[in-house]
Formats: sequence, C-alpha cells, structure tokens
Amino acid sequence: MAMDAVRVLVTGAAGQIGYALVPMIARGMMLGPDQPVMLHMLDIPAAAEALNGVKMELIDAAFPLLKGVVATTDVVEACTGVNIAVMVGGFPRKEGMERKDVMSKNVSIYKAQASALELHAAPGCKVLVVANPANTNALILKEFAPSIPEKNITCLTRLDHNRALGQISEKLNAHVSSVKNVIIWGNHSSTQYPDVNHATVTTRNGEKPVRELVANDEWLNKQFITTVQQRGAAIIKARKLSSALSAASSGCDHIRDWVLGTPKGAWVSMGVYSDGSYGIPAGIVYSFPVTCKNGEWSIVQGLKIDEFSRVKMDATANELVEEKSLAYSCLN
Ligand code: NAD
Ligand code: LMR
Repeated sequence: MAMDAVRVLVTGAAGQIGYALVPMIARGMMLGPDQPVMLHMLDIPAAAEALNGVKMELIDAAFPLLKGVVATTDVVEACTGVNIAVMVGGFPRKEGMERKDVMSKNVSIYKAQASALELHAAPGCKVLVVANPANTNALILKEFAPSIPEKNITCLTRLDHNRALGQISEKLNAHVSSVKNVIIWGNHSSTQYPDVNHATVTTRNGEKPVRELVANDEWLNKQFITTVQQRGAAIIKARKLSSALSAASSGCDHIRDWVLGTPKGAWVSMGVYSDGSYGIPAGIVYSFPVTCKNGEWSIVQGLKIDEFSRVKMDATANELVEEKSLAYSCLN
C-alpha cells in the first residue's frame, strides 16, 4: 500500500543550511528511502525569489520521493498540516560575533513562529530547532506553544555529537561508524561538554573504551574538548560562513533517529527539555544522551558522572539559565 507523504517544514529554506538540507530530505536521508515527503519551505519576503529558485531546482532534480513543494513567505501556509518542523530560519552568527549577539534577533522570531506552529501544525508535530541560539530558541518556542507537548520540541546538538565522533575517529584512525556513545552535555555553544567517558570503539578484539584506546587523558580532557567546542567558530573562520552541509546532515540524523529509533546499544545527543535528570535544572533545553523508540526519546539514566564532568555539566547549565533570562529580557 502506498504510504502517505509526511509534510516536512524547513524554515529559512533559502539560506545555506536550507539549500543543503532540502535535497537530503527529498532523497530520503531524513525519513528513510521508502517514505514520500511533501516539503514546506518558508523564508522572508526579501528571500522570496531565491526561495522560488530552490523550488525550481527541487522540481528539476526529479526526486522520486518528493510529492510536492510549498514555497511561501506566509508563516501560516508554511506551518499548516506539517508533521515535522525543522526551524533553520534566523539570523546567523558572523565572524567575530558571540552567540549572545544573535539572541535578540532570533528569540522574537521563535516566539512568533511558536504561535503559528501551535495553531496550524498537524497533531504530534515534531520540532527541531537548528537556528542559534538553538537551545534557547527551542525553549522560547516551547514556552509560546504551550499546547505542543514539551517532548516534541528539541534542538540540534547532533552536529556537536558527530563532530566528537569525527575527532575520535581521526585520532585513532578508526572508521567513524565504529565509534559510539560520546555525549554532548548542555548548550550548543562553546560551553558544551563533549564527554568521552562512556564512549567505545568497536575493534577486531571487541568493544573497547575510548579512554583505553586513546591512552592520552591530557588530549581527551583538553584538546579534544576545545576542538569540539570551537568547531563551529573554526568553520566560520575558514569558510566565512557557518557550517551548512554538516549541520544539514546532522539535522537529518537527529530526525531519523527520533522517528525511526536509535540503533541497539547506542545513544545520541539531543537538546531536550530538562526533567531534572543528572541534577540539571528543569526549565531549560539541555543536551543529554538519549535513546529513541517508537518516535519517543528518553534520557539515558544511571551514567556515572565524575567530578571533572560535574563541573563542566553545571557550567553549561548555568550558561543556559543565563541565556533564558537574557532571552526574556530581549522579549520584554
Ligand atoms: P542563512 O543566513 O544562510 O539562512 C538563514 C535563512 O533564514 C535566510 O534565508 C533568511 O532569509 C531566513 N530567515 C530569516 N528570518 C526568518 C524568518 N523570520 N522566518 C523564516 N526565515 C527567516 O543561515 P544558515 O547558515 O543557513 O544558518 C541558519 C541558522 O542555523 C543560524 O542561526 C546558524 O547560526 C544556525 N546553525 C546552527 C547549527 C547547530 O548545530 N545548531 C549549526 C550551524 C548553523
Ligand atoms: C556551528 O556549530 O557550526 C554553528 O552553530 C555556528 C555557530 O554559530 O557556532
């Protein structure tokens, strides 16, 4: 029996992440190779012509899974009936700007779009916020869309998770798919804590802890952490633009694992509304290790947290608490 198309909204679709993301969705990288999709693309009036160009290219690419494209500058039309919403639209960080500089520009956008999603999205719509400050934009979206279940509103830290896998893979000259169970705790910012204490690599002799294989705590506790924390800034410095293909690909990974489930024995990192797990304050969107099943994520419980990790987990939580009050002051 033919499957119904899933409606996927991408906001900021005329931007550089949007341009990388929409063909990935239309090729089945987000929802699987058999799932038809209907793309809803939103951008602002100044980008309407470029948005229409993206629509033309989607038609020209003749994607077999793509059942239709809505390209609009009308937020209500864009949000109507969507099952998945990937919120990329916003003002990106430029070289030399701190993430807090983009806060006031972006939180007001997320407040407005929360209402449109709440009123017009399909029931059960799953939301992924990519635009920075991603955790706090997701929090604002949650606060101003009170009828969307809080479990359905998440933000992207999978890019940081994948960056951590990539760094370990490079260090050990091991294939990236053999590395698993790194964790990104906290904010998608330079205070995030990339944690390898539970990470393993599958070798010819079975699964081995990353700490045992790398055998260099100095590198793992300093250079590795800083490289992952600063990777977004390093890409901006190199490209004069923020990451796009890796952000788009990681966004597909985030939704695919959320909808279709995480592999057995593995977890991923997602920014989710904190329930107080691991002593992290409730009321912020914080990145935790999660497993997903039947379209629902759950925080991995019971991991041992050492003193080194505790300090770093709390520091990034504190930044999110501060961002939350800054966001509210921008809205007032
Ligand atoms: P971009 O400037 O190329 O694209 C952003 C698009 O959003 C533009 O087309 C712009 O017109 C549009 N836009 C602005 N206001 C809008 C609104 N109110 N409604 C709909 N669309 C709107 O930026 P980009 O490089 O694609 O990055 C997008 C966002 O993603 C930025 O905030 C960036 O910092 C963030 N980002 C997050 C991650 C992550 O891992 N969470 C990674 C990379 C980038
Ligand atoms: C990234 O991580 O690449 C982006 O979030 C860019 C940034 O603002 O750090």
